[in-house]
Amino acid sequence: MSENIDTSPNGFYRATHLGFFKKFKRLKPLEPSPGVLGCFFFSLCFILCLLLLDYRTVNLLNGKSWSITWFKFNDFSLVKEKVGFLEESSGGCDIYEGNWVWDDENYPLYQSKDCMFLDEGFRCSENGRPDHFYTKWRWEPKDCKLPRFDAKVMLEKLRNHRIVFVGDSIGRNQWESFLCMLSSAITNKASIYEVNGSPITKHSGSLIFKFRDFNCTVEYYRAPFLVLQSRAPAGSPKKVKMTLKMDIMDWSSAKWKDADLLIFNSGHWWNYEKTIREGCYFQEGEEIKMKMSVENAFRRSIMTLIDWISHEIDTTATHVFFRSYAPVHFRGGDWKTGGSCHLQTLPDLSSSSFLLEASSEFKTVVNAFSEHAKAGNMDLLNVTGMTSQRKDGHSSLYYLGSKVGPAPLHRQDCSHWCLPGVPDSWNELLLAVFHKREFTRGQNLTIPSAST
Ligand SMILES: *[C@@H]1O[C@H](CO)[C@@H](O)[C@H](O)[C@H]1NC(C)=O
Ligand SMILES: *[C@@H]1O[C@H](CO)[C@@H](O)[C@H](O)[C@H]1NC(C)=O
Ligand SMILES: *[C@@H]1O[C@H](CO)[C@@H](O)[C@H](O)[C@H]1NC(C)=O
Repeated sequence: MSENIDTSPNGFYRATHLGFFKKFKRLKPLEPSPGVLGCFFFSLCFILCLLLLDYRTVNLLNGKSWSITWFKFNDFSLVKEKVGFLEESSGGCDIYEGNWVWDDENYPLYQSKDCMFLDEGFRCSENGRPDHFYTKWRWEPKDCKLPRFDAKVMLEKLRNHRIVFVGDSIGRNQWESFLCMLSSAITNKASIYEVNGSPITKHSGSLIFKFRDFNCTVEYYRAPFLVLQSRAPAGSPKKVKMTLKMDIMDWSSAKWKDADLLIFNSGHWWNYEKTIREGCYFQEGEEIKMKMSVENAFRRSIMTLIDWISHEIDTTATHVFFRSYAPVHFRGGDWKTGGSCHLQTLPDLSSSSFLLEASSEFKTVVNAFSEHAKAGNMDLLNVTGMTSQRKDGHSSLYYLGSKVGPAPLHRQDCSHWCLPGVPDSWNELLLAVFHKREFTRGQNLTIPSAST
């Protein structure tokens, strides 16, 4: 059968009956007598009714176990395995469409106590978070299978590579997850070190960890706006304390250039509180745009980033990613007005409740990147939708360190993510896309040489 069969129990049910009718049509050429035909139809209807009735009552009375049996049945024999994402035939599989599935067997990918790269703020379980459910979910695309993460294999692929994360503290969250995932395969932890000897602390501007035996560095540059923030020019109005130069990249951008993987994120600082309220206005050339909205300034800055990528980055050598906005989950307030998320222990499995189109942080980046992504070696890591379902994954009260214990209820962190946790899944997607790209590139290289 070549058509794509819906794998849900209902879909399966429909498909078999369609098949049955098709077969029945093929029997038609015999010239049957009306009596035989009538009898046949009667029996057919009778059987169908019974089946339908049975299906409905069982479904009503005992929906759960019914669907479980059917799923098991389907798994074993009747439904085609999903195609692997790395395989060519996975074609247009959108890995960002899918579901969170419980996977107690394979997750988490590492334990926080075994990872020396984690900020205290992300070590939720060590800081007293009582449930571990948030560590057990795997992202499963709807139409294909992701490769199982294997740190050894990935380290081998990343040999002699420079991986650079640039962005805000959620980017740092992801960078630390990346370090923990890779280092889980390395027994000699002393072979991984910060090249300048800096400790992992929250506020340093950049950190470069080297995996000595793989000649691979995994780097983080703090640049929450991506563009340059600097002192107000002389003669500016008094309320202007700083400006964001929307047409100039952050000063550290020169250091990002020769990365093999370059992963950006931004959004959490592009709001009124972290800009204009603090006296930080937007500047273009010499002009301070006193009336410019934050949203427009963000859009303008993303254009600067894209311009910078196309002029300064050799996209045949550097694979550029932009990780889309990671939604926050404060309920009943925000971070400073007592918003909370500490009672959330399960993802929102029904659907993504996040209104993608309503979020300017998402829209701005997605619109800009979708247009340009096709042009070069650029990918949008479109994690906003899947992440919006993970209200259970935040640090909430458990970000203060094991000695201090849980934070007061009105001081929760529903922006950052516990590790192991949600950012691990972003990195699995990132690595899958990278892996696939390398794979396709490898194939392209072999084809011409084979024909000459
Ligand atoms: C280490 O990797 C860098 C690229 O990141 C490369 O330029 C250098 O040649 C590599 N060193 C060795 C010894 O392979
Ligand atoms: C991103 O993913 C969401 C699903 O989570 C989808 O609705 C949206 O169209 C995707 N956007 C892009 C640009 O791929
Ligand atoms: C590989 O070749 C195909 C067409 O043969 C092309 O569409 C694709 O962009 C190439 N990929 C890379 C990474 O060069």
